[in-house]
Amino acid sequence: MEHRALTRLAAPAVAALIALTAGCTGGTVQGRPGASGLRDAYFPKAGNGGYQVDHYALDLDYDPADGELRGTAVITARAEQGLSSFNLDLSGLKVEGVTVQGEPARHNRAGNELTVRPAEDLKKGEVFRVEVDYGGKPRTVVDPGGAKEGWITTEGGAVGVGEPVGSMAWFPGNHHPSDKATYDITITVPHGYEAVSNGELRARTDTGDGRTEFAWHSPEPMSSYLATAVVGPYKVTTTKTPSGVPVYNAVAPGEEAESAVPLARLPEMVEWGSGRFGPYPFTTTGAIVLPKGTLTYALETQTKPVFSGAPVEEDLVVHELAHQWFGDSVSPKSWKDMWLNEGFATYAEWLWAEDHGGHTAEEYFRAFLTGDTDVDDDADLDWDAFPPAAPPGPEKISETPVYYRGAMVLHRIRQEVGDAKFFDLVRGWAADHRHANASTSDFTAYAEKRTGHDLKKVWDVWLYGEGRPH
Ligand code: ARG
Ligand code: ZN
Repeated sequence: MEHRALTRLAAPAVAALIALTAGCTGGTVQGRPGASGLRDAYFPKAGNGGYQVDHYALDLDYDPADGELRGTAVITARAEQGLSSFNLDLSGLKVEGVTVQGEPARHNRAGNELTVRPAEDLKKGEVFRVEVDYGGKPRTVVDPGGAKEGWITTEGGAVGVGEPVGSMAWFPGNHHPSDKATYDITITVPHGYEAVSNGELRARTDTGDGRTEFAWHSPEPMSSYLATAVVGPYKVTTTKTPSGVPVYNAVAPGEEAESAVPLARLPEMVEWGSGRFGPYPFTTTGAIVLPKGTLTYALETQTKPVFSGAPVEEDLVVHELAHQWFGDSVSPKSWKDMWLNEGFATYAEWLWAEDHGGHTAEEYFRAFLTGDTDVDDDADLDWDAFPPAAPPGPEKISETPVYYRGAMVLHRIRQEVGDAKFFDLVRGWAADHRHANASTSDFTAYAEKRTGHDLKKVWDVWLYGEGRPH
């Protein structure tokens, strides 16, 4: 009896306590705030907790004359916990209104965090729709490594790119590579301009008011850092790969002549990659050549890598195409895993050369060991400055060791297991993590299981070890 009485007394107190800790002021669903970051070791505030995005529908309106962007982002997401509020990442721009499930939602901003408080708490497992109306002149972000990303204006246009954290400068979202979603990116521009984005062009519509609307659709999931939007007076050409994948190339004025030869090889590179790495992971391919000097790098934006000026080095096209398998389809779980992108894309350059009468991968590997710049101009760079799987800080994730020593790790595996098992591993890795995310430890475990070899020494020395391996 006594026991029952106690329980009865305790129940309302417990309920009150739950309501208090959840910050709940009423209603029956008890949610709590979603985390403001995913605690990425390098970018702790990137991404947000408590939900996963299924789809982004971005409606962008851009006028190159004044540089103003008007955007509506409709984000469909699933709550992974009861949510009283959740965050989106957004840098700069002005938020004009937010709705959740069609109901106006309170929101506030602090730094790059947009906190949204729905009128009613969201239940765990609930699929919900957030609409954010926003606009302004998007900013260029300088990343920790000193490179420009975000939104960059060009001659008569602009480009949005986002590795690692620039996408939040042009649309609100869950900006961490681990949350992949499908996209519809619609861009409306004045007549005379092209607007290019990831995936396939579903419609090109004259809006009747002197503007054209380009509706781009990405059916395969994409990490937000791989999204792009490009506006300008581009020259568009289309073709198909030998196996029928549609190719869409957009080239900035003045870059056409120098781009012609490298871009003409793209279809053949897609076929080659499909042979080496397994089926091409997307339904479309192509390239975007920005005006020279727009960026200090090329980027593997999904289905259509961007190049800053004509990609006169064929290697660079191979590199960005190889990322479509490694980085875009198999994406990193965190920014620490960047070598899985860059090591593979660099190794692909070596393989392309090996398969096309150039140096073999073994020759490249040795050239880097000895610093032989006759084989590769970069062979004397400090690829041994830090272990590829542990860059010392966020400013280092795109540095030499991540690329070259990352490629050397792959070559060391090949030396240990032989060609047959190595290429089976490469194809298996791409197939088994297709359109998903993977970490370094996923890779090392997978490599040992798939090849049946103990590769601990390779990991200890080449992947995680400090100093120059020999
Ligand atoms: N991921 C690009 C590539 O190697 C390089 C980007 C480097 N710069 C940057 N800010 N993310 O293909
Ligand atoms: Zn790369």
